[in-house]
Amino acid sequence: MTTNITILKHPLIEHKLTILRNRATDNQLFRATLEELSYLLVYEITRDLPLRPVQIHTPLAPCTARQLAEDILLVPVLRAGLGMVGGILDLIPSAKVGHIGVYRDEASLRPVEYYFRLPPDAARMRTFVLDPMLATGGSLVHAVDLLKTKANNTHITVVAILAAPEGLDAFHAAHPDVTIYAAKLDDGLNDNGYILPGFGDCGDRLFGTL
Ligand code: PRP
Ligand code: URA
Repeated sequence: MTTNITILKHPLIEHKLTILRNRATDNQLFRATLEELSYLLVYEITRDLPLRPVQIHTPLAPCTARQLAEDILLVPVLRAGLGMVGGILDLIPSAKVGHIGVYRDEASLRPVEYYFRLPPDAARMRTFVLDPMLATGGSLVHAVDLLKTKANNTHITVVAILAAPEGLDAFHAAHPDVTIYAAKLDDGLNDNGYILPGFGDCGDRLFGTL
């Protein structure tokens, strides 16, 4: 199946992925590294953001400069998506942040929604949905469903860290218009729906709830 994914390649991205994958990495280092990796990904992804002219005065002269033309909205999928927000806000401090709470039911692996809160004008914002793990795809498919139906949002890009081929197919079948950026396409899922080789349960490793 043709899918809308771009894998971002860079030696620093690869290096930080290795830290995340290593089971010896503690919660503190895992959190810091996920933030750094998210920063690197978004730096690449935002390369083509539109700019608009703005008239300013430097200390020496008037100047026609350029600034971002659109408001940016970050939407982390709770909990693990929260681990990506800080690094991206370091780069785009003016971004607004909405939240979607979805967890996977451990038996069915189906998404269960528990929270949804966006700025009122979300529909017009360039939106980055953040979730480190695209496993079966259920959580991200559901989050993007909600953005489209409840917020009428059509400027959506997904930023993940790891994707499994199974989740990618499911996501593309549901949302062929939405591009996904990720650091790596991994091998597949185990019997419990975890990404292999992956880095285990991302929310638990971030927040020390293992
Ligand atoms: C994890 C992860 C994704 C989801 C991916 O969340 O953060 O949201 O699983 O799996 P899927 O593609 O099969 O839906 P989890 O359900 O563990 O909740 P948590 O982030 O609160 O720990
Ligand atoms: N959620 C995780 O946190 N890790 C996986 O590998 C799959 C889903």
